[in-house]
Amino acid sequence: MTIVAVYNMKGGVGKTTCAVNLAYLFAASGQKTLLWDLDAQAASTFALRVKPEVAQFGKPALRNAQVFIEAIRETDHLNLDLLPADFSYRNLDRFLDQLEDPKHVMRRMLAQLGEAYSLVLLDCPAGFSSLSEAVIACADVLLVPTIPGTLSMRTLLRLTQSLDHNAPALLPFLSMVDRRKALHRSLSQWVERHPELFLREQIPYASSVEQVSVRRAPVPIYDASDPAAKSFAGLWREVGAHLTQLAQTGAAPMATPAVYAEALDALLSTLIADAPVHTIASAQSAARKDQANGPDRDGPQVAFAVDSKDDFQVLERALGEAHPRRAANYLAHTFDTDDATLRRAGYRVQLIEEPERFLISVVKARVTPDEELICLREQRSAKIDGGWAAQILTGQLSPISVIDRRIRHPLAAELRALTADRTLARVESSEHKSLRLGPVEFAEGEESASIYLEFECAEAPGAETAYCVIASGLGAETQSVTRLLGAWRKRAGVRRQFELPGSAQLAAVAHMKSSPTGS
Ligand SMILES: Nc1ncnc2c1ncn2[C@@H]1O[C@H](COP(=O)(O)OP(=O)(O)OP(=O)(O)O)[C@@H](O)[C@H]1O
Ligand SMILES: [Mg+2]
Repeated sequence: MTIVAVYNMKGGVGKTTCAVNLAYLFAASGQKTLLWDLDAQAASTFALRVKPEVAQFGKPALRNAQVFIEAIRETDHLNLDLLPADFSYRNLDRFLDQLEDPKHVMRRMLAQLGEAYSLVLLDCPAGFSSLSEAVIACADVLLVPTIPGTLSMRTLLRLTQSLDHNAPALLPFLSMVDRRKALHRSLSQWVERHPELFLREQIPYASSVEQVSVRRAPVPIYDASDPAAKSFAGLWREVGAHLTQLAQTGAAPMATPAVYAEALDALLSTLIADAPVHTIASAQSAARKDQANGPDRDGPQVAFAVDSKDDFQVLERALGEAHPRRAANYLAHTFDTDDATLRRAGYRVQLIEEPERFLISVVKARVTPDEELICLREQRSAKIDGGWAAQILTGQLSPISVIDRRIRHPLAAELRALTADRTLARVESSEHKSLRLGPVEFAEGEESASIYLEFECAEAPGAETAYCVIASGLGAETQSVTRLLGAWRKRAGVRRQFELPGSAQLAAVAHMKSSPTGS
């Protein structure tokens, strides 16, 4: 019996989709296959049309394989059985934490569950937890769907750095590849040049794949001739070949974690160099910037969108002289009710993931009448610890209750009134890569202001990349900042984008102001 864990610390990268399609393909090839849905969200359970239930699941069940064996259900597909998720799996981590020997318990459980199968696939939840540690300790292979983006590559680097020499064979592959995006195309080519690091097959971003959870079946069942079905078949063949090699030689088929770390490190430094960082902001200007964005700052903040990254360079050249620059990357997870109450009312609730910290943030914004600029009306954010962030991301903790506890401001009450205790779910996760400049002295006729600028690319799965310019003025009127920015854009000959990628833009604006206030 071989254990393949489909795992990535990042959420929404295609783990479940991959697990469901590969499990189906292995089963269809005649291998008796068990898919264990380890995620309380029960997405693969849903996709395979099984009721999410493990009767009598609780802490004692972890030492009693019978509870799990009895929960195994046949699926609509020959040779494919499913061990469904149960909503109470949200406690799985805590239960494992309370055991003295979680890895040993998981290993014994998998040995007993897998007795009747030649392959066990694990659909893991996102995050790094006791569960993922136990899974990593037991699996023969870690299959890691990776979206071609800077932060995804960084996450993969972090994973490789956390693995020791006993770690399972690592098989990363590119997932949700969108060839309309320049970064996806260039990372896809980089991956092709590194077959020792990544599987050759890349899963395209395709609406046919999204249909898995609508049609509740693997892609080959409803459209075997679809290009994505062919990609999954290619992935299945490649993973199968690696498993055979692993069984025959016992050797990890791909590079060692150290080789990954070196290659990814080099890749990331070229990607970051790509978003040119010539000068690090001086301590003085950094301090001024913090002041500008801190709780006492009262300058207006506005944003507009442009067509492409090239516009950033044109705009920067039009500033006339070089200014201190600083690169910043982060993830923004947006939460809303299922009928988008907050978005419609102009509010954003976000969890911001920076390399070193997490922030919870709430923003109230307004779009100016000509739809050109987004202006912030109110924004508050507070630093939160990783435990809370993980619980928010896994749906165990409501972001509103965290805002209530950490942000003492009327905005918290406004949110509570708007959502009236309804559940908020994650509606979008976007990756933000930005370059911060300034302060830049703008002067036009009688008008002048000191303005910090941020050029930012925001990428969300399934959405066009948004290119935004975010400006915060120091002690100037919104109208004046707006006019100065308009003149600058005209001088540069850069047109604004007509369709506002509002959500990504707001995410960006929100973050620019997100110096934690804690109050
Ligand atoms: N190749 C693809 N093309 C288009 N959409 C995709 C693709 N792969 C996954 N999706 C969609 O992206 C979303 C996330 O995919 P999936 O649930 O497989 O990710 P995940 O990593 O399991 O997420 P989570 O961390 O929440 O468990 C789903 O809506 C899915 O339909
Ligand atoms: Mg999933």
